[in-house]
Amino acid sequence: MTKSEQSTKQNKVCLETKLNGLTLRNPVLTASGTYGFGEEYAPYCSVAQLGAITVKGITPLPRLGNPVPRLAETPAGLLNAVGLENPGLEDFRKNYLPKLAALDTAVIVNISGFSLEDYALLAGTLDEASAEYGNCIKALEVNISCPNIQDGGMAFGTDPQSAEQVIALVRKNTKLPIIAKLTPNVTDITEIAKAVESGGANIISLINTLLGMSIDISTQRPVLANKFGGLSGPAIKPVALRMVYQVFEAVNIPLIGMGGISTWQDAVEFMLAGASAVSIGTANFVNPLAPLDVLHGLVDYCEQRGYKASRELVGLAH
Ligand SMILES: Cc1cc2nc3c(=O)[nH]c(=O)nc-3n(C[C@H](O)[C@H](O)[C@H](O)COP(=O)(O)O)c2cc1C
Repeated sequence: MTKSEQSTKQNKVCLETKLNGLTLRNPVLTASGTYGFGEEYAPYCSVAQLGAITVKGITPLPRLGNPVPRLAETPAGLLNAVGLENPGLEDFRKNYLPKLAALDTAVIVNISGFSLEDYALLAGTLDEASAEYGNCIKALEVNISCPNIQDGGMAFGTDPQSAEQVIALVRKNTKLPIIAKLTPNVTDITEIAKAVESGGANIISLINTLLGMSIDISTQRPVLANKFGGLSGPAIKPVALRMVYQVFEAVNIPLIGMGGISTWQDAVEFMLAGASAVSIGTANFVNPLAPLDVLHGLVDYCEQRGYKASRELVGLAH
């Protein structure tokens, strides 16, 4: 056992995190699309120390994603237009799920569709598949917020009625806890949050990436082949934090906060704003140990301030 593992095991702060049907050993997760299927990070980080890993967005059919270049760095951020590259539902079920089931951590599967039927199929199939492998999927994260595909994705997440409809349909097709993942590319995030709560979501995760672009002044053309991409990383943290704060006041279900979290101080801010758990995304690309650094810093903060449980921090900024 490494020193950091020992310190997490011996801490006096209760980290157990109960999210309306989803119980996690601690409140630090990894964000979809930034942590592969967990095994990619095995040489750096023991997933057993994480609250959960969220796998890359799965679609009914395999996807190669968008043409390259599809990543561009910006000051304090990353633009991506990966376009949901993934193995597709059947390959995921046969070849990825058994390996995920063997991991000593909670697994959340992120799903993305282009139509209502896609979401129904993904939810129903994964519900069955989870049962086949010892109930290894602990929740479905419904991505109604992907900015990098032509149809579906974000379109569902920018209209309250469509958002509610997708979540209600997923609810009909699965017994698993549902996490509705919201896009920040809207005027009023609280309207969408209330809609997915009425649709039957157990939990809300926010935020996905902010639509942006970058232009190469030597070629005088957009850097990304897709022209536009989703901005993530520290640049979006203040926007994400504001949205978590607003949504906390608008709904009665727990929130998973994400968007630019790279240090434990960021995570504490999100919890004070109202997130019951936090997800680490782009920071993993810079520091594969970022989720553990965040966890250890959070524990120290709680210990120093005399909190017995990390959940005591949730919403204190209100
Ligand atoms: C390369 C990349 C791929 C992503 N893929 C997905 C995805 O498949 N599904 C999804 O819901 N979010 C996806 N996201 C969004 C992240 O999960 C997260 O919501 C967003 O990046 C904000 O968090 P961060 O600033 O900590 O990265 C992706 C982000 C990046 C950078």
